[in-house]
Amino acid sequence: MLRCEKVTSRISGFYKLPPGERLKAVAEQAGLGQEEISQVKKGLELDQADKMVENVIGVFQVPLGIATNFVIDGREVLVPMATEEPSVIAAASNGARMARESGGFLTSSSGPVMRAQIQVTGVSDPFGARQTILLHKDELTRMANDRDPLLVKYGGGVKDIEVQVIDSRIGPMVVVHLIVDCRDAMGANAVNTMAEALAPRMEEITGGRVYLRIISNLADRRLARAKAVFKAEDIGGHEVVDGIIQAAALAEVDPYRAATHNKGIMNGITAVVLATGNDTRAVESGAHAYASIQGRYRSLTRYEKNKDGDLVGTIELPVAVGLVGGATRVHPVAKSAVKILGVKSADDLSRIIAAVGLCQNFAALRALASEGIQRGHMSLHAKNVAAQAGAKCDLIEIIAARMAAERRISVDRAVELMKELEEKGQEKN
Ligand code: MEV
Repeated sequence: MLRCEKVTSRISGFYKLPPGERLKAVAEQAGLGQEEISQVKKGLELDQADKMVENVIGVFQVPLGIATNFVIDGREVLVPMATEEPSVIAAASNGARMARESGGFLTSSSGPVMRAQIQVTGVSDPFGARQTILLHKDELTRMANDRDPLLVKYGGGVKDIEVQVIDSRIGPMVVVHLIVDCRDAMGANAVNTMAEALAPRMEEITGGRVYLRIISNLADRRLARAKAVFKAEDIGGHEVVDGIIQAAALAEVDPYRAATHNKGIMNGITAVVLATGNDTRAVESGAHAYASIQGRYRSLTRYEKNKDGDLVGTIELPVAVGLVGGATRVHPVAKSAVKILGVKSADDLSRIIAAVGLCQNFAALRALASEGIQRGHMSLHAKNVAAQAGAKCDLIEIIAARMAAERRISVDRAVELMKELEEKGQEKN
């Protein structure tokens, strides 16, 4: 199937459609074929799972939804999100709708560059060893690049070698950083292979002993950034702008608030990372380490008021994701998620992920600065409770709406309302 000529992420009434109709609408826009559509419906199958990890006994399903309304760098983007948490996808769609009023999200990045660390221990002259390693930079670069000619062919490979002497509890260590452009790979395999390949030569030239040879997930050379302007009139007025700035100011200085603030960002980020088959833990550890890079844990976003009184939101964080290798190329649903996003490179994907993180954070702060988040959460919670009480089809919506309005959400109340509605129905007949 061909991708629809006019792609729009603003699909009116999308949330009211049944799941099959939603998938049809998304498939049309993304150009998903019948096979891909049925794979998205089926999810991961046991034989596919059995090839991904060890000792498989089943598959663990997580809902996959689509966040609508995103405009990122002028492009309409439908965002697949895999999450178990209610309200996340609705909040992202809502935040994106407000951002699109003033053009959506603008993004940039520092490029797909990762670090691998090689730890050299037992060196009596660590500063001398540091210089020796730097004197061998060209030779070491060649040796590392020889391990991955394909990466080099596509413009990647080792771009620099940095060496630090780190004082530890058990004495000084020489720590070598290989700075590697990983192009469309997340890069863990590529950089780990290179680091392992260099270890023997590193021992030879320094006279030390190498232990660790591994990627650093603090991917501070793989930063993705996003910015959006939210007009005061589109987000509930100047008081909401001020409320968000107040909330954000606390998250900049107080780690207790920053942890929750960043958790909200990761609600969006992890959902897209997971949907595209990428390593959620790598991105999470990178984000939280980067949040502490100045020596104190702080928020990953900033909010300011521009000269027109509108809210300017920005985010910057490491986003180490890939499009080749790993589950992205193996998991059938992840493959479709990448197609739905319409990304051409890992760098594109990382910038979309940053935009989603900013949007998710904005939506949470806006709710917190105005009505609080419980109202949104409660209406979904009420639907779950109505279903638990045995309500079916339309009755779920009706009972949930009543319980949410009354602010009495319990299975007992749902059963009462069900009886009441049944009695009314019988009277009518
Ligand atoms: C809940 O999953 C996320 C929030 O707590 C984030 C925040 O407080 O900013 C709502």
